[in-house]
Amino acid sequence: MCGIIGYVGEENAVPIIIEGLKKLEYRGYDSAGIAVCVEDGFGVVKQKGRLAALEERLKDQPLKSRMGIGHTRWATHGEPSDENSHPHLGSRNKIAVVHNGIIENYKDIKERLVPKGIEFSSKTDSEAIAQLAEYYAQKYRGDDLLDTVIRVTRALEGSFALGIMCADDPDTLIAVKKDNPLIIGVCEHGQFIASDVPAVLKYTNKVYYLSDNEIAALTKDGVRFFNMDKEPVQKTLETVTWSVDSAEKGGYEHFMLKEIMEQPRVLRDTVQSIKGDNKEPIESIDVTSIDKLVITACGSAYNAGVVARYVFERICRISVEVELASEFRYKDAVVDEKTLVILISQSGETADTIAAMREAKAKGAKTLAIVNVVGSTIAKESDSCLFTAAGPEIAVATTKAFSAQLVLLYILAVRFAAKLSRISRESEQELLAEIAALPDKAAQVLKNVDSIQKYASTCVGYKNIFFIGRNIDYAIALEGSLKLKEISYVHSEAYAGGELKHGAIALVEENTLVVAISGCGRLRGKIMSNIEQVASRGAKVLMIGSCQDVHPDGIISCIGLPEVPELLSPSLSVIVMQLLSYYVAANKGLDIDKPRNLAKSVTVE
Ligand code: G6P
Repeated sequence: MCGIIGYVGEENAVPIIIEGLKKLEYRGYDSAGIAVCVEDGFGVVKQKGRLAALEERLKDQPLKSRMGIGHTRWATHGEPSDENSHPHLGSRNKIAVVHNGIIENYKDIKERLVPKGIEFSSKTDSEAIAQLAEYYAQKYRGDDLLDTVIRVTRALEGSFALGIMCADDPDTLIAVKKDNPLIIGVCEHGQFIASDVPAVLKYTNKVYYLSDNEIAALTKDGVRFFNMDKEPVQKTLETVTWSVDSAEKGGYEHFMLKEIMEQPRVLRDTVQSIKGDNKEPIESIDVTSIDKLVITACGSAYNAGVVARYVFERICRISVEVELASEFRYKDAVVDEKTLVILISQSGETADTIAAMREAKAKGAKTLAIVNVVGSTIAKESDSCLFTAAGPEIAVATTKAFSAQLVLLYILAVRFAAKLSRISRESEQELLAEIAALPDKAAQVLKNVDSIQKYASTCVGYKNIFFIGRNIDYAIALEGSLKLKEISYVHSEAYAGGELKHGAIALVEENTLVVAISGCGRLRGKIMSNIEQVASRGAKVLMIGSCQDVHPDGIISCIGLPEVPELLSPSLSVIVMQLLSYYVAANKGLDIDKPRNLAKSVTVE
C-alpha cells in the first residue's frame, strides 16, 4: 500500500518519478506527490486524486532536478487531501520524506515535538518522520544525514519504507525500510529507490533488495549500504528476469484484460518451472513427517487455498485447514513441527500473511511459500519458496497470479500424494499430464471471449449476483464472486449449493442472477437441483461447465468448458468468471485496474 519512488542521477528526475509512479499506482491512488531538490530547498507539488491530476498540476508548476522522491497514496491516517499527500516536509523545509507503512507511535512523537514549537501541517502519521528528522538534525549538529536517519528510525515504531532527502545534503537520497518493501535499482545514469520492480524496469533490471533495518545512501555515482550501527553492508546486485513489456499494457485497454489473456503462457511457464528452480523446494519437503497442512493467505490467494484444500484432501488424504492470514495470526493456531504451513501471496508483502508466517515459524511449523515476487519478504523468510511464473501483475484484481498459484498447488498435491503412496505412479503421471494440458485448455476457454462479453452486456442493472457450486466448484465460486464485487461494485456472494436452503434462498427473487458452476461431474445432479430451486423462484441462471442436457427453465445461458478432471476444473471456470467480471465492469465504464478503495499490495494491517 502506497508506492514510493526516488531517483538521483544525471537525468531530470521528474519524468522518471512520474513514470515510476504510474507503475506503482496499483498500490494506492488517493493522492500523489513529488518533491525535488532545487537550489533553495525543495520544489514540491502534491495533489489529491489520481496521478493524472498531479501531472496536470505539474504543467502549471513545472519542476526540474536531478534528485527527487515521489509517492502515490492509499490513505491510512488522514483523509485523501492535498495536505495529507506525500512527500511530507519538516516545518523548516529541510527534510522531505515519502513513506509507505504505518508509524504506530506518531502521536507520541507529535506530542514531544509540538511543545517545542514545531507545527504539523497534516493529519498523517508520516509527517512525524519528517518533523522528527528535522528536529534531530538541528539538535545534533555534528550528525550527517545518515546519522539523522539512524536516530529517526530507532525512534519509530511500526512499519516503514522511506525515501528521505535533506536540503543541506542535496546530493544524497536515503532509503531505509522495516516490514515494508523497498528495492534499489542501478543504471548507467543514476540510482533509484522503489516499492516494486516494475517502477524501474524501463531503466534497469539490476536491483538490490533492501532488508529490514538496512539503509541505502544513493548518490549519482552509486549506492552504499549500512546497518543501524553505520557499518558498511555488502549486498548482492540481482538481475530481474521480468521484461519491460511485461509491465506495459501491450495494446489492451486494461492491464486486467491483458493479464487474463496471458494465462495460457503463465500456466505453461509455471508448469515448466517445476523442471527447473521450483523442483527442489517441492522435493525437499518430507511430507511423510507431516500430519497436518495449514494454508493461510488473504484475498484471492486465500481462495486459491480453499480450492487446494479439496485437492490435497482428496488425493493426499491429509488433513488440511485453510485460514485467513488476518485470523491465523491472532488465534493462537495449533501448529507445530509436524505441520506444514503453506503461505500463498502474489506480492510476498501482504502484512497479515507475513505475520502469519512469522507466527507459524515461531511455533516450530515448517513454512512453504507460493509467491510471485522474487526478493519479497515472504520469499526470503519462508523455509522454502515456490515461485509462480506470472511476471509482474499490475491490475489490482489478481487473475494470472491466482491461476499460477492454483497450478503450483495442484502439482504440489500430486507430488505429495505420490510421496505418501496415496496414488499410483500411473495416476501421478496421468494427473501431471492433465496439469500440463491446462494451458491449451485455458487458451480454448479464452476463445469464448466474445460470447462472455455478449453475455456480460446483458448483466446490466443487477444489484446482487450469486455464485453457487458444490465442493471444488464452491471453492472457485468464492473467487468468481470476489472478482465481480472488487471491480464492478455489484454486490455478490458465493454459496455452497447445498447451503442455499439455509438462508440465501430468501434473497432469490424474480430476475436475481445466479451463476452456477458445474465443473464437478460427480455432483452435477446436485447442482442441477439447486438450479431448479432458484429458477423456480424466478432467478435467471448462467451456467459454467458442461452444457450437455441443460434443461431447467431459468438457465439463460451456458458457457461450456473443455473436458478436464474435476479437481482441475477451477483453472478453467475461473477464466470465464474473470472475463465476466471484467466485462460487467467495462460496461459500467469503471476504472477496472484501480477499483475504488482497494490496493494491490496490502502492506499494512
Ligand atoms: C489484495 C489484492 C488481491 C490479493 C490480496 C492478497 O486484496 O487486490 O488481488 O489476492 O491482496 O495479496 P497477495 O499479494 O498476498 O496475494
